Amino acid sequence: MSESSYPSVKDLTLEEKASLTSGGDAWHLQGVEAKGIPGYMITDGPHGLRKSLAASTGETDLDDSVPATCFPPAAGLSSSWNPELIHQVGEAMAEECIQEKVAVILGPGVNIKRNPLGGRCFEYWSEDPYLAGHEAVGIVAGVQSKGVGTSLKHFAANNQETDRLRVDARISQRALREIYLPAFEHIVKTAQPWTIMCSYNRINGVHSAQNRWLLTDVLRNEWGFKGIVMSDWGADHDRVASLNAGLNLEMPPTYTDEQIVYAARDGRIAPAQLDAMAQGMIDLVNKTRAAMSIDGYRFDVDAHDEVAHQAAIESMVLLKNDDAILPLDAAASKKVAIIGEFARTPRYQGGGSSHITPTKMTSFLDTLTARGIDADFAPGFTLDLEPADPALEAQAVETAKGADVVLMFLGLPEAAESEGFDRDTLDMPAKQIALLEQVAAVNKNVVVVLSNGSVVTVNPWAKYAKGILESWLLGQAGGPALADVIFGAVSPSGKLAQSIPLDINDDPSMLNWPGEEGHVDYGEGVFVGYRYYDTYGKAVDYPFGYGLSYATFEISEVSATKTGANTACVTATVTNTSDVDAAETVQVYVAPGASDVARPKHELKGFEKVFLKAGESKTVTIDLDERAFAYWSEKFGDWHVEAGEYGIEVGTASRDIAASVNVTLDGDNKSLPLNEWSTYGEWESDPVGGKVVAAAIAAAGTNGLPTLPDNAMMRMFLQSMPINSLPTLLGEGGKTLASYLLDEYAKLTKNITE
Ligand code: BGC
Repeated sequence: MSESSYPSVKDLTLEEKASLTSGGDAWHLQGVEAKGIPGYMITDGPHGLRKSLAASTGETDLDDSVPATCFPPAAGLSSSWNPELIHQVGEAMAEECIQEKVAVILGPGVNIKRNPLGGRCFEYWSEDPYLAGHEAVGIVAGVQSKGVGTSLKHFAANNQETDRLRVDARISQRALREIYLPAFEHIVKTAQPWTIMCSYNRINGVHSAQNRWLLTDVLRNEWGFKGIVMSDWGADHDRVASLNAGLNLEMPPTYTDEQIVYAARDGRIAPAQLDAMAQGMIDLVNKTRAAMSIDGYRFDVDAHDEVAHQAAIESMVLLKNDDAILPLDAAASKKVAIIGEFARTPRYQGGGSSHITPTKMTSFLDTLTARGIDADFAPGFTLDLEPADPALEAQAVETAKGADVVLMFLGLPEAAESEGFDRDTLDMPAKQIALLEQVAAVNKNVVVVLSNGSVVTVNPWAKYAKGILESWLLGQAGGPALADVIFGAVSPSGKLAQSIPLDINDDPSMLNWPGEEGHVDYGEGVFVGYRYYDTYGKAVDYPFGYGLSYATFEISEVSATKTGANTACVTATVTNTSDVDAAETVQVYVAPGASDVARPKHELKGFEKVFLKAGESKTVTIDLDERAFAYWSEKFGDWHVEAGEYGIEVGTASRDIAASVNVTLDGDNKSLPLNEWSTYGEWESDPVGGKVVAAAIAAAGTNGLPTLPDNAMMRMFLQSMPINSLPTLLGEGGKTLASYLLDEYAKLTKNITE
């Protein structure tokens, strides 16, 4: 029997179809036993499995779930720029779902980090949609390769936690298409997630669950999505409207299936729409049947811990390394002081629905003990935001005094960031910085290791540290991973997926953050993150794409060849010019030239992480498709590539471009028919309109056609005038000219279309 042929909606009663469109309880689909449709479990996500111990009864306890491998949340994993590694994480998560009989894991979340204060930044990937889509697709493809479903979330524009259940995100079509939708679009088109979870918020006035434009026109009709859409937990406020908009599944259930039955009977829901939504649910169950029929499967706890370990290694970003203070030489019998409670009690994941119970947990201190590395430890502070503890501080300063090098583990405690609220400051807890200052006063060799889910300001205190290692949230294997990087077993290779500003007030979204009176205007449009900083030449602390290594690299032989009217292929050679094996990420940015619209100076359109042995070189090849050069034109209601020259920049950060080459594209030749509201300038530059204008000029003085002014100021006015305003400048002759242009244009375009 084929996957989707049995059972079919045709075999179901109206009541049974309606029942498929809501859950059985908070964590299960609703089965139809009589027709052989099981009520499989679906649960969080996104950086490991959170199967609540109470889930069999449909209840929720965020802190009490079955042990599962805690992989680095997206804040860390996104810095890896390594889709294959992310795919492995996905495969491992799926195996854990199979053991626990979970048919769909709720993740990944690919919303854009519009503002670093956003409470869920720790579980989102990037400020850049290309990077977010091309990384998170690894989770979707990896999980689904094992027969388990994913739920790509939160569709769309969940970019803040303030008022998240109802805020109206007012976003231009262009910003939606270029910034807030492309990560979803890429993953839908390349990996077909089996489910998508809609967001809580409204977009331009309509709740996502009821947004037919979003769930049907764009997602299904334009992008070809084949799976089901479920609501975020409690995001469906009108079951009939949502089902009509394209929402297959309400979660958790509100036990109102009769509403669907009545609406189907009285015609408020068309039979075909209910059938399509219910059939989607049957198809989902059928896709997961094979994996859900595997009994007695046990995943390999150690092997998955090792995947988490590798992922953690690649998640760290080395921000500063003066005097090559890192790596430390464990064998050189230097006295190392370790300060900061986070070394003993790591902060390794974020708070809220993604919070899971790890299978193992090894702190940095535990790792040193296990590896026989001697170090003195002082906690220095408690994990409360305040107050400072003078006794702990004094002990920490004393410990720092006698050491050759001090590793200070600083970061954001759990109370500082979580799903459910936005942060109100980018700054580190004051007591930790005060301690850092005291330690730096007695020891010049300080390395700060940061643990935080979203960006913190670094500049105010960077002068106290020779080294700064941003370790984000590293999951359960953070301890060993940190030791590997700090003591030089592996070179750090992470790159920032998010700019680190000097000050939160530099962020382009701050004028409209977090909104007011129930709405938030995305006034910065497409100028999010580096798209704003780089275009307007604003200073940042650390730019997008940045990250140091223990090795040095050189990029050379950069070239770009046109492969079609509006496509190109880029090649570059990257050489490890040091004696340390390490990885570098080659980043390709497209820099549009002159344009009819305001475009970012450059945008990431390709990347490849390359592992190179000391002295080794490799050539990377990156294809740029038409979309890489396009912007979303509100005029055409479509993507548009303008003809002209485009810069192709190859480098290792948005502000570290090794070489730039140009390609000249033909453009897609899109144009709109001219009319009376088109300006004289638009008439002149249009291929057909230009001919008509030339004919009118040649005929000036005959049939009432005017002679155009040759004075520069008047010409300037003329250029920007819709032709229905020509009489203002040219009197009656202007009226004659406008009619002449419209008539002649109509004749010519008629001839063209016939
Ligand atoms: C979150 C989702 C999560 C769901 C189920 C919601 O509050 O926004 O990300 O998957 O709860 O826990």
